Amino acid sequence: MPKNDRLLRAARRQPVDRIPVWFMRQAGRYQPEYRQIRKQYTLMEICRHPDVCAEVTHMPVRQLGVDAAILFSDIMVPVEAMGVRLEIREGTGPVIEQPIRSLNQVEALRPLVAAESLPHVLETIRLLVRDLEVPLIGFAGAPFTLASYLVEGGPSRNYVKVKQMMHGAPEVWDALISRLSAMVGDYLVEQVQAGCQAVQVFDSWVGQLSVRDYQRFVQPYMDRIAARVATTDAPLIHFGVGTGHLLASMAQIGGDVVGVDWREPIDQAWDRIGPDRAVQGNLDPVALFAPAEALEAEVRDILARTAGRPGHIFNLGHGVLPETPMDALKRVVDVVHSGDPARTWKRVIKH
Ligand code: CP3
Repeated sequence: MPKNDRLLRAARRQPVDRIPVWFMRQAGRYQPEYRQIRKQYTLMEICRHPDVCAEVTHMPVRQLGVDAAILFSDIMVPVEAMGVRLEIREGTGPVIEQPIRSLNQVEALRPLVAAESLPHVLETIRLLVRDLEVPLIGFAGAPFTLASYLVEGGPSRNYVKVKQMMHGAPEVWDALISRLSAMVGDYLVEQVQAGCQAVQVFDSWVGQLSVRDYQRFVQPYMDRIAARVATTDAPLIHFGVGTGHLLASMAQIGGDVVGVDWREPIDQAWDRIGPDRAVQGNLDPVALFAPAEALEAEVRDILARTAGRPGHIFNLGHGVLPETPMDALKRVVDVVHSGDPARTWKRVIKH
């Protein structure tokens, strides 16, 4: 158990001394030290060097005082290990050499055994948990978001090819998302076995789907992943962007924490998720570019809306943007940690 276990307690909706806070993409280009390391190594090379990767993971915890570390990696790391040739292009994102469109291509994907093909990732986790005083979050891309890159061939605006596959070749879609779901479940369990104390699934682009498509083409597969993670004692955080219309479905899937973006007030989103799930997120990543007082007002608004509800994990509604001023991130951590959640809870309980 790490010294500071606020995140794990909040994920289980237990009382905490301070609201836990961390940031998605807390390691990255906004840090001069990260930019320096990137002059020597590509992103994928960082992931193959456990000592460098552990240092990049650890850095934001020291600099910002956040309550969790997130393993430095990318959602495409295990996909590459399944045999897909790809490149992570700066300013664009993942680009796939041969987009997947046929059953033959799906069947050529190798199952992932991280201990064999990604031993450096597990080694990084082991190095980190020896030294960290906060929980280490392992992660994977959710099958829809991974499939969207694989089928479209790269980032997409309208997701035409992936939706075409769902509706026009449902057997190919089922084969693809089944393999990805098995990979994600196995990979998350291996990360927990190596020492991660919580795991997060990033379904960044699933907000593009209608409720009907989500329930038919995604939810049953997310259920399989949640069931796999539930065999460990690590809480599962389930995150997506633009998912206001999907939150009720996402909450039906097992998983301890549901991530919310910034588009809707957090208390309204939480009402649809229900009180038996913890909630993470909600600050607009662009609020970090506002003057200090305006930023603080946004943070305090979120804290006021969640006061009295056990299970709040403070985070952004999406990842830290590359130009973000570090002082703004530090200010958010200080404001979140300055409150005393126990007092608000006692008040609510007395009621
Ligand atoms: O949060 C963390 O600090 C851990 C590291 C992390 C990275 N990628 C490193 C990275 C995590 C959790 C991810 C997940 C990821 N990767 C997602 C899901 C989260 C999200 O933001 O929605 C997605 C969609 C990807 C795919 C991807 N990789 C994109 C869209 C990009 C950005 C391309 C760009 O240049 O703008 C990447 C590259 C990437 N992955 C960077 C980092 C720090 C950018 C910096 C770099 O190239 O060094």
